[in-house]
Amino acid sequence: MSRSMSKESEEKFNLCAPVFLVGFMGAGKTSVARRLSRICGLSCIDLDSYIERLADTSISDIFEKVGEEGFRAIETQALKDVASMEEPQLISCGGGVVLRSENRELMKRTGTVVYLEVTADQASMRISDKSTRPLFNDIESVRKRLTERIPIYEQASDISIETNGKSVGKIAYDLKRALAERDVLIASGKRYLRTE
Ligand code: S3P
Repeated sequence: MSRSMSKESEEKFNLCAPVFLVGFMGAGKTSVARRLSRICGLSCIDLDSYIERLADTSISDIFEKVGEEGFRAIETQALKDVASMEEPQLISCGGGVVLRSENRELMKRTGTVVYLEVTADQASMRISDKSTRPLFNDIESVRKRLTERIPIYEQASDISIETNGKSVGKIAYDLKRALAERDVLIASGKRYLRTE
């Protein structure tokens, strides 16, 4: 081991197929994916960030220029890209990815879909800058949108995880256990953590 490596080690894991995190805005999909990827040494991709990099602009700007339908078409193409990457990815999806049946079918066919459950009020507390979410408006419309989507999230997913009142670390732990139980997450030996 080189001098720049610590003696501390963690188990390294692999995914045997992509994992798609779905759920309403503010469910914690991005933070949880990042945390689990760090704990388990997995590659992760945030679908909105992937779209923003490709389009070289923000999600709000895309909504302004091409509207929700235009955004959904870009989102479907981006989903196809990340689902077919050679190394299976942990993918945090935008909250509306489940709206197209084409996307739901692709996710179910190619990987494991995990629904992170959240209430509208909890989501509102978690999202500090709402200007980045064009579809997160006043709380009454948010509650209505979430109520309409809940059956779609439930139908689209293989696993549901409750997030209300839980920390990112606890949700990541629950997710890790659920994926390991289904043999989607597989231990592949020790890895050494760099400390500098
Ligand atoms: C959307 C959720 C957003 C983003 C876009 C639309 C939605 O992603 O994709 O603003 O329809 O729920 P997050 O769920 O990461 O906020």
